[in-house]
Amino acid sequence: MDYSKLSAEELKELLQQEQKELKKITKRGLTVDMTRGRPAKDQLEIAMPMLQRAGELDYALKAGDARNYGQPQGIRPAMELFAEIFDVKPEEVIVADGSSLNIMYNVIQFAMQFGVLDNEPWNNQGKIKFICPAPGYDRHFSICEKFGIEMITVPMTKTGPDMDVIEPLVASDASIKGIWCVPKYSNPTGVTFSDKTVERIATMKVAAKDFRVFWDNAYAVHALYDTDDKLKNIFDVARKAGTIDRIYSFASTSKVTFGGSGISAIAASETNIKSLLKHMFFMTIGPNKVVQVMHVDFLKDLDNIKKIMKQHAAILRPKFELFEKKFSEAFEGEEYVQWSKPRGGYFISVDVKGCAKRIVEIAASVDVKFTAAGSTFPYKLDDADSNIRIAPSCPNLEEMDYAIDVLINAIKIAEIELQLKRKQ
Ligand SMILES: Cc1ncc(COP(=O)(O)O)c(C=O)c1O
Repeated sequence: MDYSKLSAEELKELLQQEQKELKKITKRGLTVDMTRGRPAKDQLEIAMPMLQRAGELDYALKAGDARNYGQPQGIRPAMELFAEIFDVKPEEVIVADGSSLNIMYNVIQFAMQFGVLDNEPWNNQGKIKFICPAPGYDRHFSICEKFGIEMITVPMTKTGPDMDVIEPLVASDASIKGIWCVPKYSNPTGVTFSDKTVERIATMKVAAKDFRVFWDNAYAVHALYDTDDKLKNIFDVARKAGTIDRIYSFASTSKVTFGGSGISAIAASETNIKSLLKHMFFMTIGPNKVVQVMHVDFLKDLDNIKKIMKQHAAILRPKFELFEKKFSEAFEGEEYVQWSKPRGGYFISVDVKGCAKRIVEIAASVDVKFTAAGSTFPYKLDDADSNIRIAPSCPNLEEMDYAIDVLINAIKIAEIELQLKRKQ
């Protein structure tokens, strides 16, 4: 329905109807939290055999006992496992503890305080800036805010960040030191970067010698369907172009085994890896290698990880599909609401026209919580008040069904209110 064509009287009547509808929906009286992309309990059960086998594993590795100090780069079999995921050499990997966000934070801290390779610390170079494609992952933006890194918001397109905007910026401004990318099943848009975008990021001219691409491949193996999106290997392109030192890539098993209690890794050139290990020497005695042995035993190799991810997909897919079914029934062809149809990852991105905050507020008033509107933009500044991130993983199907009904209704109410305001 095109609300903008209705009179104020008609809108008021419709508003009352939708408010009544909300009361009807909320008679089910559920409470749903969809603020973060947490795996659901049945997903967490998938990795329980890993814990059950932990006592029987052989921890005495060739390089030393995993239960003891040593092996700061991680155990070799875990380096090999992540090398397969990143499609790089094991020597180009450091395996760390439960959170890849932790490594990202540390890598930026090292750059700020000690500089990237032989370059001046970012702290001594005046104002520094990062390119932040948006909508994007709020925790990337929070790291920038914490370190006082100025964020330049750049639009996300269907093929990745808008390279036509990025290229002239990074080519002319040496204070731009980095770009955040979630290249596969992006958070929250679900977009996988096109080959062309990957090539342009790896080869673009940059004014800063110490520019880095933060390639957060958090959803590398997180397909919802048998036909997985194919992401071009940025390391291959960069190796050929002589820009390999530009790339830091990150991944973890947070959404393969246990959220925050799995293992994580960074992939980078051997030069970068050596430099990072030097900094890490002062920071830590080494990673939790016992957990690494458990993970290698359970995950085995990329083929087996893909099998495990099919079990996750079987739980996640019906939730995404329920959303798609209900949204297309409610809004197909409507101009004032658009939504993504991701084929992997953890999020659905909803775009409205100037009432995202109000929608999240209406839903929260009936105990259905979505990520705060604005969170997907640097400084939480979504100028168009347009984007809402939906995290379907954690609720069960009944809760999901309820939350979508509330969301659909909240969108209608907020849009009618907006049109009424314009009429008054
Ligand atoms: C894009 C992205 N990167 C990183 C993370 C966090 O990863 P980890 O649990 O390895 O810290 C998330 C979690 O939602 C994410 O969406």
